[in-house]
Amino acid sequence: MNQPIGELAPPTRLMLTPGPSSMDPRVYRAMATPLVGHLDPWFRGLMDEVQILLRQVFRTENRITFPISASGSGGIEASVMNPLEEGDQALICVNGMFSDRMAVIAERSPAKVTKIEAPYGKAVDPDDVRRAGKGKKIKIVGLAHGETSSGVIHNLDGFRKVADELGALLVVDAVATLAGVPLNIERQRIDICFSGTQKAISAPPGMSPITVNARVEEVLRTRKTKVQSWYFDLTTAMNYWGKERLYHHTPPISLIYALREAMRIVLEEGLEARWERHRQNQLALIAGIEAMGLELLVKNPADRLPTVTAVMIPGGIEDTKFRNQLLDEFNIEIAGGIGALKGKIWRIGLMGYSSQKPHVLLLLAAAEKVLLEQGYRVPAGAGVAAAIRTYTQAETATAVSR
Ligand SMILES: Cc1ncc(COP(=O)(O)O)c(C=O)c1O
Repeated sequence: MNQPIGELAPPTRLMLTPGPSSMDPRVYRAMATPLVGHLDPWFRGLMDEVQILLRQVFRTENRITFPISASGSGGIEASVMNPLEEGDQALICVNGMFSDRMAVIAERSPAKVTKIEAPYGKAVDPDDVRRAGKGKKIKIVGLAHGETSSGVIHNLDGFRKVADELGALLVVDAVATLAGVPLNIERQRIDICFSGTQKAISAPPGMSPITVNARVEEVLRTRKTKVQSWYFDLTTAMNYWGKERLYHHTPPISLIYALREAMRIVLEEGLEARWERHRQNQLALIAGIEAMGLELLVKNPADRLPTVTAVMIPGGIEDTKFRNQLLDEFNIEIAGGIGALKGKIWRIGLMGYSSQKPHVLLLLAAAEKVLLEQGYRVPAGAGVAAAIRTYTQAETATAVSR
């Protein structure tokens, strides 16, 4: 009962999961700086800086752009609860656990929700959304830009077109994509977009950056009823993040410090360079995985989410035994499947600080050793060699184009 509890000493893991990702040491340092009050004049100035950085990361001028004090699921809740009220209809594209969560949350609003489904591992077809919405008054079309549970990305253009035809707002979950995959709120005309801090931004979990445009502000202004959720009501939260800086709730100050530093790092690298880094590292990882004789869940290369790769677990290999050995022997964490894909796939996240060439090569080498020891025959060194070839080809192509 009175056993002494020692000082905190977490192991140093390489997090190649679909979040949280590993963090740059600069982000840890920012988080360890002194706490100030959330209404302190200095902190108010920092809040402006955070919003300026966030607008650059989202590529938007939207006034309402701030980090919600909640994980990505809070972003989903804010995004659907704010526009929806009695009499509204919502179409939610579901092709995995997280897009399903958007539908599950929307069903708690008074609106009528219709799911437009695609099998896990595939993208939803915008034509299915068009068919489902035809002749109806649709308030929102919602989807996950990147579906982390299956490693699928959606091309947003087709959904924007359909939402325009239906006169609906486009709501996009960019938890797995912001700062890792091309995304431009202004150019792609996304009405509501939210993300999570723990993925390609590589800050700690616990905040959900959100941005909504003027069209949504008008919808909020003309609501007939109050937003069901007090905490996630964007209008009242903006009384704190906006000019007035009125107390709404006490935000996670140290996490905001960390987010600020993580976004500085994102913008120092440059969004285009960062997107390209994520793309290249996934291509090398895929080349390595396929050279080892393993298969991917997502068959169509155009549907593959650059930040999360879903690998089919080969016959004869036990999911948790494999992942436990990777963790115990190499300090590498990858994730298993969730929901319908539990026990069927591994999910490898290459996000933000985790998306690095040495990490890809280490993972492939470690996976080869573990697979061999657990009875799966892998051609010696094939995974690492294929990944290196991919990097070399990319480097040569870059040198030639210069
Ligand atoms: C696409 C997507 N949406 C929403 C979430 C929920 O985020 P959180 O776990 O931070 O609440 C996740 C989490 O992995 C996600 O990947």
